[in-house]
Amino acid sequence: MTATADVPARARTSADLISAEEPVLAHNYHPLPVVVARAEGTWVEDVEGRRYLDMLAGYSALNFGHRHPALIEAAHRQLDRLTLTSRAFHNDRLAEFAERLAELTGLDMVLPMNTGAEAVESGIKVARKWAYEVKGVPADQATIVVAAENFHGRTTTIVSFSTDETARAGFGPFTPGFRIVPYNDLAALEAAVDETTAAVLLEPIQGEAGVIIPDPGYLTGVRELTRRKGCLFIADEIQSGLGRTGRTLAVEHESVVPDVLLLGKALGGGIVPVSAVVAGRDVLGVLRPGEHGSTFGGNPLAAAVGTAVVELLETGEFQQRAADLGVLLRDGLAGLVGKGVVGFRARGLWAGVDVDPAIGTGREISARLMREGVLVKDTHGSTIRLAPPLTITGEELESALGTLAKVLAEGA
Ligand SMILES: Cc1ncc(COP(=O)(O)O)c(C=O)c1O
Repeated sequence: MTATADVPARARTSADLISAEEPVLAHNYHPLPVVVARAEGTWVEDVEGRRYLDMLAGYSALNFGHRHPALIEAAHRQLDRLTLTSRAFHNDRLAEFAERLAELTGLDMVLPMNTGAEAVESGIKVARKWAYEVKGVPADQATIVVAAENFHGRTTTIVSFSTDETARAGFGPFTPGFRIVPYNDLAALEAAVDETTAAVLLEPIQGEAGVIIPDPGYLTGVRELTRRKGCLFIADEIQSGLGRTGRTLAVEHESVVPDVLLLGKALGGGIVPVSAVVAGRDVLGVLRPGEHGSTFGGNPLAAAVGTAVVELLETGEFQQRAADLGVLLRDGLAGLVGKGVVGFRARGLWAGVDVDPAIGTGREISARLMREGVLVKDTHGSTIRLAPPLTITGEELESALGTLAKVLAEGA
C-alpha cells in the first residue's frame, strides 16, 4: 500500500497503535494514552480526530507552536536544495546560523550539535579542556560543580551527576569529576569550588525538578563567585531559553552573562534536533580540529531551521508574548490556590503547579486534563508542568486554566 501525505500506510485506531507499541518499543517512557496524528499552532489532533490544546509544547521544543509557517517554509526550502554535508565540507548555511546565534546571545562562538544532552556533554568537554589549557589544572583533576535535582540529559556522564536514582540505577560505573551541591545555596557552592574547578554547571531555572526558580540574587551570586574563583559559569538554557521565560534567556532576568550557554530544544523549531554550545572565544577557542565533532551537528537543514528560529527571536515578539501572557498564567494559577492547587512557581509562560495530593498524582491530573482536551505532563509527585507554545492566545490560555479549575473542582 502506498502512503499519501495524509494517510499512514496502515490506518489504525489509537488503542490499536498503543497496544502495538508494547512488544516492539523499548519501555523507557510512560506516555499519556493519546496518539497524535497532526498538529497546527497550539493544537494537536489524535488519530480519531479529537483536538487537544498543547500545554506542554514538547518540553519547550515547540516554543513557536507546531509547524510555525516561517519555520516550515525554511525547512521546505532547504529540503529542496541541500540537507547534509557532514563537517568534512563547509555548507552555505552554517556561517549565518553561527553569526546570528552569537549575535542573539551576545557571545562569540558557536559549537553546533544536535540534542540537548550532546550540548551538555560538549560543554563539559570544553570546560575540562579550558581548565587544563588555560587555568592550569593538573591533568585529569578537573572538577565540575552541579546542583542537586538537576536535569541535564541521559548520557552516562550526565547521569553520573544526577540525584535522581531512577535515572542512575543500573547504569554505573559513572564518570568521576563532579561535585553536587544544593541548588539555590551560594554558601554550599562557595565551599565546593576550589582550584580544580573547571566550571559550575546549572539550570537558571530547574525545569524537570518542577520549574524551581532560585531566589533573586542567586544567579548574580553564581556569576560573581565563578569570576572571583576563576572558573566558568555554564548555564544550561536548553529548556529555559529562547523566549520561554519572557526573555531570550532566563539568565537575563538577573542581567547575567554566563561564560558558556547551552541551547537546544526550541532551537530546532520543533522540526529537527538542533543544539549548540555558545561561548566566548577564550573558551570555545580551546577546541582544535579532530578533538570533538558530530556527523549531523551544523548540517544545512538544521542550520536553516536554526537561523529561522533566531530570526523569530530577533523580533522580540515571542519574548514579549511570554512576558505578557505570563501575567495571565500567574494570575490564573493564583486564583486556584486553595482550590486544588497548593502552590506554584511561574516565570513567563512556564509554571510548575503543585496539586493537592488528595485530589490525585500529577499523572492522574494530567490524564484527567487529557480527557478534557488539554495536554500537560507531570513531573514529580503531584506537580504538573505547564509550558504552552509562546504562540498561544489569551483565550486559549484562559480556556486551559478553566479546564484545570474544572478538573481540580471535581476532586479525587
Ligand atoms: C535543562 C535540560 N538540559 C538538557 C536536556 C536534555 O535534552 P535532550 O533531551 O534533547 O537530550 C533537557 C531535556 O529535558 C533539559 O531540560
